Amino acid sequence: MELGFGATGAWAAGWFDESRAEEVLRTALTRGITHFDTAGFYADGRADERLARALQRLAPGGAVYGRQLTVSTKIGKRIGPDGRLVRDFSEHAIRDAVERHTTLFGGHRPDIVYLHGPDEKERHGSLPLLQRLKADGLIGAIGECQDGPGLAEAVCTDGIDVVMARYHFLNTSHREAFRTAKRNGKKVISIAPLAQGMWRRGIFIPKRLSDVWGLARALIRDPKTLLAAQKSGWIRRVDGWPPAHLAMGFVRMNEAIDVVLTTSTRPYHLEEVADGFARDLPREIAALLSVHGAQ
Ligand SMILES: NC(=O)c1ccc[n+]([C@@H]2O[C@H](COP(=O)([O-])OP(=O)(O)OC[C@H]3O[C@@H](n4cnc5c(N)ncnc54)[C@H](OP(=O)(O)O)[C@@H]3O)[C@@H](O)[C@H]2O)c1
Repeated sequence: MELGFGATGAWAAGWFDESRAEEVLRTALTRGITHFDTAGFYADGRADERLARALQRLAPGGAVYGRQLTVSTKIGKRIGPDGRLVRDFSEHAIRDAVERHTTLFGGHRPDIVYLHGPDEKERHGSLPLLQRLKADGLIGAIGECQDGPGLAEAVCTDGIDVVMARYHFLNTSHREAFRTAKRNGKKVISIAPLAQGMWRRGIFIPKRLSDVWGLARALIRDPKTLLAAQKSGWIRRVDGWPPAHLAMGFVRMNEAIDVVLTTSTRPYHLEEVADGFARDLPREIAALLSVHGAQ
């Protein structure tokens, strides 16, 4: 299992200073992270551009310390002429996204192209072209990021090599689908390992713009998890175990997962996550997290 970094969210936002974003990325690379996830439609098109610029400086030639990087992108949404996101799984949109990525990353093809939350028709409509692009060597692997029933379909679909979905101590609903994916020979990428930091003590008193952004996202997109996370205050009081270590340790116990994607705007947070990723959870804490995550 390896740790990966998601180039999205606050890290990619225009208001987050690019040199600070690069510092976070430098931390990722020095901590041995070589797997990066992004999309052409994240952060108004800034996320993959920012990632490409930073990697060009920090990991020229797509490698660092002799290790080749893996960079993924996504299709299924594009930025429309008025700046809004448009759902689009058309051949034109897929080819555009692949070309955009390859150009941005100095001629390196996307290692994984994820279908972003397709329905069954969109999935089966897109797969033949993605398989041709893969056979022609223009993309590395075909992935799908999903949630709920869509993931259950994706893990049983021939032609999908990689699946991506959330998994953390407050939401293990994809556990069975991950197992099936593994049985079917697919790679499993888990996201939101920290439950997006919703358990943070000061979450309702944001200190920075990135904190305001994170709180707004939690309130709008996932108030249920925010409530559960705030109820799980005990994870902030486990001796010798910062909550980020507990959260990462919990995800690491799932043997079906190949890559755990996190993100951050603070180098010291990423350091803490990387430290936590290297620790094994004591059995009794693991049991507590499994049973009483939200208490
Ligand atoms: N979740 C989704 O909906 C989704 C969908 C598709 C793809 N993805 C991919 O998955 C990646 C992971 O994103 P995620 O937001 O789901 O990940 P996550 O790792 O669960 O949460 C990241 C959040 O946790 C905070 N954090 C990081 N380290 C911390 C620490 N040591 N202590 C306290 N808080 C900490 C970060 O805030 P700071 O900036 O303050 O560190 C950030 O807001 C994305 O970047 C993207 O590539 C996610």
